[in-house]
Amino acid sequence: MSEATAQRLAELRDQLNFHAHRYYVLDDPLISDGEYDRLFQELLALEAEHPELVTPDSPSQRVGGEPRPEFRTVTRAIPMLSLDNAFSAADLLKFEERLQRFLNSDEPLTYVAEPKLDGLAVELVYEQGLLQEGSTRGNGRTGEEITANLKTIPSIPLRLISRPGQIIPARLAVRGEVFLSVAGFSALNAQRREKGEPLFANPRNAAAGSLRQLDSRITAQRPLDFFGYGVADSSELACAGQGELLAALAAMGFKINPHVRTNATMAEVIDHFHLLAEIRLQLDYEIDGMVVKVDSLELQQRLGNIGAPENPRCPRWAIAAKFPATQATTRLLAVEFQVGRTGAITPVALLEPVSVGGVTVSRATLHNEDMIRSKDLRTGDTVLIQRAGDVIPEVVKPVPEMRQGSEEPIRMPTLCPECGHPLVRPENEAVTRCPNPQCPAQRLRALVHYTSKAGLDIEGLGKKVMEQLFSLGLVTDIPDIYRLRAKDLRGLAGWAEISADNAIAAIEASKTPTLGRFLTALGIRHVGEGVASLLERHFHTLNQIQQATLEELLEIDGIGLQIAESLTRFFEKPENREMLEQLFELGLTITEPVADETRSRPLAGTVFLFTGSLAAFSRDEAKARVKALGGQVASTLNKKVTHVVIGDKPGSKARKAAEQGVTILAEEQFTTLLRQPELITNSGPHQLALF
Ligand code: IVH
Repeated sequence: MSEATAQRLAELRDQLNFHAHRYYVLDDPLISDGEYDRLFQELLALEAEHPELVTPDSPSQRVGGEPRPEFRTVTRAIPMLSLDNAFSAADLLKFEERLQRFLNSDEPLTYVAEPKLDGLAVELVYEQGLLQEGSTRGNGRTGEEITANLKTIPSIPLRLISRPGQIIPARLAVRGEVFLSVAGFSALNAQRREKGEPLFANPRNAAAGSLRQLDSRITAQRPLDFFGYGVADSSELACAGQGELLAALAAMGFKINPHVRTNATMAEVIDHFHLLAEIRLQLDYEIDGMVVKVDSLELQQRLGNIGAPENPRCPRWAIAAKFPATQATTRLLAVEFQVGRTGAITPVALLEPVSVGGVTVSRATLHNEDMIRSKDLRTGDTVLIQRAGDVIPEVVKPVPEMRQGSEEPIRMPTLCPECGHPLVRPENEAVTRCPNPQCPAQRLRALVHYTSKAGLDIEGLGKKVMEQLFSLGLVTDIPDIYRLRAKDLRGLAGWAEISADNAIAAIEASKTPTLGRFLTALGIRHVGEGVASLLERHFHTLNQIQQATLEELLEIDGIGLQIAESLTRFFEKPENREMLEQLFELGLTITEPVADETRSRPLAGTVFLFTGSLAAFSRDEAKARVKALGGQVASTLNKKVTHVVIGDKPGSKARKAAEQGVTILAEEQFTTLLRQPELITNSGPHQLALF
């Protein structure tokens, strides 16, 4: 009896999944809605009688489940990256040139051009063909686990379709975009207006709000949709290029955007951009540009990513061509002058609120004094503003025809609006600054940065809380954070015993940052995450960085004069040295970064120098390959260089290197080394024995 039931249930699941795919993915149903409903009701009834027979790929699992207290985070081995932008056909041609230069080849490349969907990127992990875990992109490396919510989206397969002869990898992480149709968005907002609930500004926000529901039953009621466009690791799929990969995803049951152009030359890619710009407003979902991808997966592999290998920013093989920004006119009511973390004064335009591309804009940056001057902006002006992609809104220009005569020129203040200290504007610099290190606005911003996600990410010490603690004088500098006691917080407005204890625990937990993280948190000018991780790899201890001379810093590939000077200036200041000392006294200790098991670094400790031209790859690719394996690259022969790779027509470096006793590699040896980097035996920087 129960075997017959189990069999009927399996049949129903297969039928319902098949028909849902026909309906939601292919938009080509074979049965009526009524028939589908009858099958679905039969499934629900049988499952209600036999809850033990409910499987994770049953269509009944799409309705959502019990609300959760919070989302779990997931960390992925292969991060989800962002894309560089192109704003013109010329930018796309430059992109192609860069690729050819990197690959050291004039061969024309073949591309795939896809609409850039304006939704939310997610990752769906399938194990043995079954949807196991879904997550948001988050910061790329870690995102939020939202499996229950993603399961409610009818076009996301709960089980991959496997066709005879097609191999489905044991684990497959599919990436794509969750979005809300324009019609779905309007219907949702109409409903919300009726209920007196706040409206969503655009389909993207509505999709984001719907996906981040702790109660997946609410998500289930939102008409979300999904297009697949990639996988984290394509090595187990028998695909040669992005075009084939999209076809493979379609065969597995994913919805693939119909306006994809495959097998295209760059000229055809540019044509496709114009086509997409034309049909854009007729589509039932929002797109904000086109993504161009090098078709060949092998070339994608060679091209790799831009950014530090352990912290890549975007793939070198893809670019986002953005549609021209959306513009609107409004009135410039006043200008506010904000003091940033490093003392920079930024003029901010306060605008009469206006909707630009679906988002209400009431503030826009004016960047600096020169920009105000060059545009001849005045308060009271009617101004043209624009929003390009997710970029902050900006004022393009005034509309002088609309002037009434009462408009006032905008003057940069001469005194800091926060501390009253006279402002300075160094010659040859566009930025006006408050040079007072005691300026409360700067101190507060530095504190907010230190505890924020970009810094040490101390939970419970967000911007609002830091403002509160600062204004009460409880925290006036970074060491003060570590002097806080639960009793200091308990009595304050908005604090309870638990939140106070939690904050103190989070502060305690933040006492063992990695070097890179700590450097980023300090908010030294020009030292962001990328530079900090470069420094971490190069120096290993804070003390070494503090001791490093300008020359030593400049030897590091990726560190220029501006960064090096900023670092030495920071560590020279007695107040900064004092602050670091206090932090260490208060128990802060820098920890070794956890070894990343997903990537081995066989070339760690080596420093490569290239001379002469290589036949198989460009200098850039050769450098990137070394860095990806954990090695470093130098541009001049210095005492840290461990290997010199000699190409055709080498310079004098080769001879000098030989004199210094540095290991010298011919191109073929270098290529072998890249293939089998474990062959390297590192017996000290100067006597490396190879093979
Ligand atoms: S490929 C590694 N393809 O664009 C390549 N991304 O700026 C990046 N996006 O977060 C992903 N449509 O949300 C790719 N057809 C498409 C896309 C697309 C939209 C978004 C995605 C990602 C962002 C990158």
